[in-house]
Amino acid sequence: MNANQVIQIYKKDSQILSSSVIELPQTNRLKYLHAKMRDKVASKSQFIFYADQVFRLLIEKSLELVPFKDLDVTTPVGETYKGKQFADPICAVSVVRAGESMENELRHIDLKIPIGKILIQRDVVTKLPTLYYSKLPDHIAKCRVLIFEPMLATGGSAICAIQILIDAGVLEENIIFVNLLCSPEGIQKVTQQFKKIQIVTSSIEEYLNANAFMIPGIGDFGDRYFGTT
Ligand code: PRP
Ligand code: MG
Repeated sequence: MNANQVIQIYKKDSQILSSSVIELPQTNRLKYLHAKMRDKVASKSQFIFYADQVFRLLIEKSLELVPFKDLDVTTPVGETYKGKQFADPICAVSVVRAGESMENELRHIDLKIPIGKILIQRDVVTKLPTLYYSKLPDHIAKCRVLIFEPMLATGGSAICAIQILIDAGVLEENIIFVNLLCSPEGIQKVTQQFKKIQIVTSSIEEYLNANAFMIPGIGDFGDRYFGTT
């Protein structure tokens, strides 16, 4: 699978899933990063170290999907270099708490991109999401928006976050959902409801277990990244 190929097969039972889901190429290097991060004995600092490297790949891939326009510059030897710059304003929106973990890598790439916040928490028993707070950039309706959410399990939190952006005037086709792990079940639910969004993920997992954990999975991402276990 190369980086520009879209996933068209729903892994679990070979149904057509969507043409808008991009899984990063499953290279040995990416599998190494996943192994180090997923290992249950990884310390908090190891977990952050490897997760951040995968986030960088995910954000870079996501930023390849937005339109660019020409940017010509004059080099020190007096010649023109024909480069590119974003054609539209870009912003990111983190789904707090786990999504905030992706912000550092975005800041390493581009400090000017504004970051909105949506606080959604999943009930530990019902697994249903509750929205507590959102603060979005004023001009978000004109933006290409990266949603930062490392975990897509049942899909409830993702659907809630995407709907908030659409209610704020963001075009569905301008949303890129940046994700570390997703379940086949969750991704199907999200793409059925929002057919025009794009999802960039580093792994489509095997399945969701009865406790709404992805398998083979990574455990509770927020607890591991922020050290609250
Ligand atoms: C977790 C995870 C995702 C969400 C995914 O959030 O971080 O946001 O569940 O599950 P879903 O697809 O079934 O909705 P949670 O609210 O548990 O905790 P967090 O504060 O650590 O992000
Ligand atoms: Mg969360």
